[in-house]
Amino acid sequence: MEDRFITSTKNWTDAEIETSLRPTSLDQYVGQDKVKESLKVYIQAAKSRKDALDHVLLYGPPGLGKTTLSHIIAKELGSQIKITSGPAIEHAADLAAILTNLNKNDVLFIDEIHRLNKTVEEILYPAMEDFALDFIVGKGPSAKNMRLKIQPFTLIGATTKAGMLTSPLRDRFGVICRLELYSDTDLQIIIERSAKILNIDIDHSASLDIARRSRGTPRIANRLLKRVRDYAEVLGSGEITKDITDQALAKMEIDELGLDFIDRKILESIIYKFGGGPVGLDTLSAMIGEDAGTIEDVYEPYLLQLGFIARTPRGRVALENAYRHLGIDFPTSK
Ligand SMILES: Nc1ncnc2c1ncn2[C@@H]1O[C@H](COP(=O)(O)OP(=O)(O)OP(=O)(O)O)[C@@H](O)[C@H]1O
Ligand SMILES: [Mg+2]
Repeated sequence: MEDRFITSTKNWTDAEIETSLRPTSLDQYVGQDKVKESLKVYIQAAKSRKDALDHVLLYGPPGLGKTTLSHIIAKELGSQIKITSGPAIEHAADLAAILTNLNKNDVLFIDEIHRLNKTVEEILYPAMEDFALDFIVGKGPSAKNMRLKIQPFTLIGATTKAGMLTSPLRDRFGVICRLELYSDTDLQIIIERSAKILNIDIDHSASLDIARRSRGTPRIANRLLKRVRDYAEVLGSGEITKDITDQALAKMEIDELGLDFIDRKILESIIYKFGGGPVGLDTLSAMIGEDAGTIEDVYEPYLLQLGFIARTPRGRVALENAYRHLGIDFPTSK
């Protein structure tokens, strides 16, 4: 895979350090205050009743901390966590086996839960609702419905595409948490915390600078930190200053808002090739040669947040802020 920088999706270089940088308690988990507050209450209540926590759905763009939060929830509950993902469970029997092996009040984490296939998903309905598995035994007129009880458990589902969840599945989650892009201040805290763990010297103006260019995403913040450190070691004494940060990020073609050449290509296509839009996602994707799903999940959330583009029923449009950022005159007659 091409070593592209801005992808908030995970790549192999992240894997080695993500584990060490992952916060392990709700108090260490920076930002997402609303989500943390409600989870604290529900976790406390479930623990004092000695019940399983209600099923939790976590959704939001890649790299915002869904997997991290799932581990923390299990830890705070004092429960074991079993981890799997939508595409990994091919057959209904695989999921049935996982479910029957859970202990009381365990957490089952299903990543990319929108990618479960239909027959597997149907096993989940009675499991989530009644802690039971329903089977049909035998064939034809003598077929019988059988029900097998399983231990109460908490399902944590994570997805970047809540819209692709079927409504029977979505309705069975008692707690639905939407993770938001992080503020610069929160990202700065995350960067300084990671720097400490990785033994990196960084000054406040540099950590803020990296935070501002991290597209609201902790995974990108950590990745930029590591790259800038490499530059600092080669160009200077190893300490990360604002000056070194600026040089390093300029070399990576990441601008002061964290936009890279793909973002600029998206915006310039909408503006120059489609007169500012609206343009459909598939047309845009064909035009710039980038996967439609990647545009939608990785690039657009941040461009939307910046007020650079809008999604309309007829397609994407570029907004005045985007023109201004690129130094292009905004057509006043539009
Ligand atoms: N709230 C946070 N505080 C501190 N660090 C965080 C926080 N959220 C995420 N991180 C850091 O960002 C990294 C990526 O987070 P995580 O893997 O949980 O994202 P994700 O939402 O599961 O992404 P994906 O959709 O790709 O699975 C973690 O390794 C962790 O170091
Ligand atoms: Mg994840």
